Amino acid sequence: MNLQALIETAQAMVADGKGLLAMDESPGTCNRRFEALGIAPSAEMRRAYRELLLSTPELGSCISGVILCDETFGQATAEGTTFVQLARDAGLLVGIKVDTGAKALALRSGEKVTEGLDGLRERLLAYVETGASFAKWRAVIAVNAVDGGHLPSAACIAANAQALARYAALCQEAGLVPIIEPEVLMTGTHTLAHCQAVTEALLREVFEALTLQGVALEALILKPNMVIAGLAAPTQNTADEVADATLQCLRRVVPAAVPGIAFLSGGQSGELASSRLNALHLRPRAPWPLSFSFARALQHPALDIWAGQDANRAAAQKALMHRARCNRVALRGEYSAAMEAQ
Ligand code: 13P
Repeated sequence: MNLQALIETAQAMVADGKGLLAMDESPGTCNRRFEALGIAPSAEMRRAYRELLLSTPELGSCISGVILCDETFGQATAEGTTFVQLARDAGLLVGIKVDTGAKALALRSGEKVTEGLDGLRERLLAYVETGASFAKWRAVIAVNAVDGGHLPSAACIAANAQALARYAALCQEAGLVPIIEPEVLMTGTHTLAHCQAVTEALLREVFEALTLQGVALEALILKPNMVIAGLAAPTQNTADEVADATLQCLRRVVPAAVPGIAFLSGGQSGELASSRLNALHLRPRAPWPLSFSFARALQHPALDIWAGQDANRAAAQKALMHRARCNRVALRGEYSAAMEAQ
């Protein structure tokens, strides 16, 4: 492992006020989003959509890197340029989602643990050889009880934290920067305070596990949820309240050695995600660069516009760039709703 090279990659992922484009939906998730819009759920349509995203002109002016899933990692443009090459030619770092999904946690109804450690060392080496610079692993933690109990359990948090830490250690050993994504789900009716308590407990355990496994904190990126009330909660908070709770939570548990934090969007609209990101940058400077690693909040307008039609390609790319620019501006604290009308 070349620690210095890993540190430089991690820093580059959050440098220059840019963020990451997560486009690593598994074929199943991508198909579900396609079907909702009447797009054929085929490998060819997934390929065409990913080509559209990756060939968006000037994407690299706002985006430092892209996260791909295994299928996309092995695909190519209609002309035969591999997507890895296309991204690198556009000045983008290439990342790969390496977990194999969140599965039911044994004896814990309604809770999940993310799998994918078996054979991971060999898979990582193959990704490195093909041009990956970083990797991603997502743990999903539900806040609301599905069966009247009090989720998440300590068992669920511990199992996911340990898996994230073992993944991160394998990544660094292989020469990849691990993105650590412990996601407290936004679905539910919970309050902002409840989300903050769960996020804090989860992150505390994740950093303990990372330390136990010997992971270099200087060579990873944390990808957390923002601290918000559940999407179905009767009381929704202002962007300022979200920013204050999020920063208080992160300051309590994320070591200053971490080179960057890139938020997931988690089902927030593109506009809300941008305005909350903006509010985070209107507060006293945090110990880490605060960036974004959005999937839905960057892609959704573009996917809606494309709708599987080649004729809509340029308009969809324009919509993607609009969201990317809004978020880049938010990283300077200069985003406003007026930008949406432009
Ligand atoms: P969202 O921004 O849509 O939450 O996705 C981020 C991601 O990478 C999910 O794993």
